[in-house]
Amino acid sequence: MLAPLKFLNIYVIFLFMSILVAICLVQRVLSQGFINVEIKNLLKMQRGLGWPYVLRVAEGNEALLRLDIKLENLESCKITTPSGLTFRIQSPPSNRYTKWSDGCGVRIRNIALTDEGRWRITATAGNNSYTGWSEVYVEESKSVYSASPIALKDGETETKLELTSLENSYCLVSKPFSESSLVPGHCSVTLDRATRAIQGNWNVLLGLPGQVSEMEVQRQVTVETERLDVGYVYDRTENKLHLYCNILHTSKNITFCRFQKTSEPFGYNVVDGLSDGRHSYYGDGFAQRQCGLTLENPTAKDYGTWRCSVGVQMWEGNVIKPQTPMQALISVAQDAVRLRIAGQIKDIEDDVVKTIFVQSHMPFTITCKANMSLSYCWFQHPNGTQYTPAQLLDENQLFWYSGESLQTGDCGITFADVTSEDAGKWICHMGPRDQLGIEITDHVVLRVTGPLAANKKEVGTDIGETATLYCHTANGNKPLDYCRFLSPNFVGIRIDESVTENSAILKRYYFTPNRGLDYGDCSLTISPVNEEDIGEWTCAALINQETLEARDLITLYIDASTAPLYTAGIVGISLGVAVLVVALIGVLWYKRFWPKMPWRRSSQPSSVDNFTMTQTFYEQ
Ligand SMILES: *[C@@H]1O[C@H](CO)[C@@H](O)[C@H](O)[C@H]1NC(C)=O
Ligand SMILES: *[C@@H]1O[C@H](CO)[C@@H](O)[C@H](O)[C@H]1NC(C)=O
Ligand SMILES: *[C@@H]1O[C@H](CO)[C@@H](O)[C@H](O)[C@H]1NC(C)=O
Repeated sequence: MLAPLKFLNIYVIFLFMSILVAICLVQRVLSQGFINVEIKNLLKMQRGLGWPYVLRVAEGNEALLRLDIKLENLESCKITTPSGLTFRIQSPPSNRYTKWSDGCGVRIRNIALTDEGRWRITATAGNNSYTGWSEVYVEESKSVYSASPIALKDGETETKLELTSLENSYCLVSKPFSESSLVPGHCSVTLDRATRAIQGNWNVLLGLPGQVSEMEVQRQVTVETERLDVGYVYDRTENKLHLYCNILHTSKNITFCRFQKTSEPFGYNVVDGLSDGRHSYYGDGFAQRQCGLTLENPTAKDYGTWRCSVGVQMWEGNVIKPQTPMQALISVAQDAVRLRIAGQIKDIEDDVVKTIFVQSHMPFTITCKANMSLSYCWFQHPNGTQYTPAQLLDENQLFWYSGESLQTGDCGITFADVTSEDAGKWICHMGPRDQLGIEITDHVVLRVTGPLAANKKEVGTDIGETATLYCHTANGNKPLDYCRFLSPNFVGIRIDESVTENSAILKRYYFTPNRGLDYGDCSLTISPVNEEDIGEWTCAALINQETLEARDLITLYIDASTAPLYTAGIVGISLGVAVLVVALIGVLWYKRFWPKMPWRRSSQPSSVDNFTMTQTFYEQ
């Protein structure tokens, strides 16, 4: 109760003081002998009588002005234009003017720039006359507004989009395929996050001053994703091969640029202005975010798959931080002949099934590699279940992506724990980045084993042939302290790399060349295979830093069809040659004994032609 009372007191004091001030002022004015202005007349002249006080009209629109009071017995209504022309509303000078409203008002059609200014309206009723005025501002009529497309970067957050620079009171914005939204005041929208879903033509309807019809504005919005633009150009005239790897739509800067042929162990550090005589920079400079390599006089070795790695840095807050390098693969097409050879080589390689050995309840990784950039990859479990690896984020994740990056063609998955049910043929499916259609597939055989595993549990051979019994540590290479084998008739053999073909135990058992105990290999080559070697073998080894010996069993069996594949080829060729020799003899005999047969004409194949034929056949 105290506060309102206090407020009332202040109010009363203020009122009292105001009255005092007013009295003083009136006394001063009167004592100075000014003309006594009748307050009644002054009120009648107030511009407040004109309605609206201020009106903005775009050219071509109409203005509707009137007096804001209604008079009984209105006698006359006069309009005075900004140029000083006065007319009675009943007799306008042109049909642009007509009466407006019940009282005294005017409708002015087709407003032009010359109509700008103060319009006075005077109404008379009896002894009283009232004048009001309106200020009219004429705006240029806007019907077209064009602006350049708006380019945004994918993932940009809190972006403020200015849709027009016009002064408008509201706008209605409709993005493609979504509800429209009404924006009061200046037409701008703030996007939480830019995605490609907002791409396209934005339709904006603007409410402009002085204009009844809304203006329609189209704004093209594009959302660009940061990406590498990779490829190659062959310059025939100069005999140069240019590889490029440019970053598009980025705010990152290039710090280094590296190219490597995937089949070579070394790469090239490419810097603008630097050359080693054959390799030099290609592009418009690091500043333009371009990275490229020019190969002068390319050779066959330069064709194939190249990997480019671009080092980048960007601002994070107010410090520049290096970012993960961006990488991609470039496949430089070979000429037709080389392509065919490569294809054949590839087929042969494909026949060699990759097998990985994993000890049960250990993590395992399956990797496949494409020689092109991928956009995704997934794996099919031997039982048909599909797994798409995602980044490792959390310790309890069951599986995750492993490998360098999809851009470099790496497709790998790691599972935290293997069980015997995971054994079998896994298929990796790889989706190339720049082509649609069938996915690339590869397969890997997973074997769930003990710590030491036989590469092949069953090895087919024949008496007199060479056979290899190969055991290896599961889960990668681990050094072995020793390696031993036990033959079917219980001959124990301990071997290591020092036992070579020349120093073979019992003249036929030796350690397989190019393998080593240090890399987890326990491998026996038997050459030649004797009858007593056929049967079940044991390989055993002590893995470094483990206490228990690990072992596996391998069965060596007689398989008559194990003759290497090329034998058939040789047999074929021999047969072919034999047939030809017979044919040749036949031809010679024919030439010799039937030289003058009556039905023979002069043109006959010479023996030389036959030799050529033989050669061709042989080459095939
Ligand atoms: C107008 O003024 C005259 C003289 O001042 C007065 O006689 C008359 O009554 C007035 N008329 C009206 C309608 O007020
Ligand atoms: C990138 O280079 C430009 C021009 O040299 C520089 O203004 C900008 O700060 C650089 N940004 C980064 C992240 O290094
Ligand atoms: C396939 O094997 C995995 C792992 O053992 C298992 O989680 C999944 O349920 C199996 N799927 C089918 C269809 O049996």
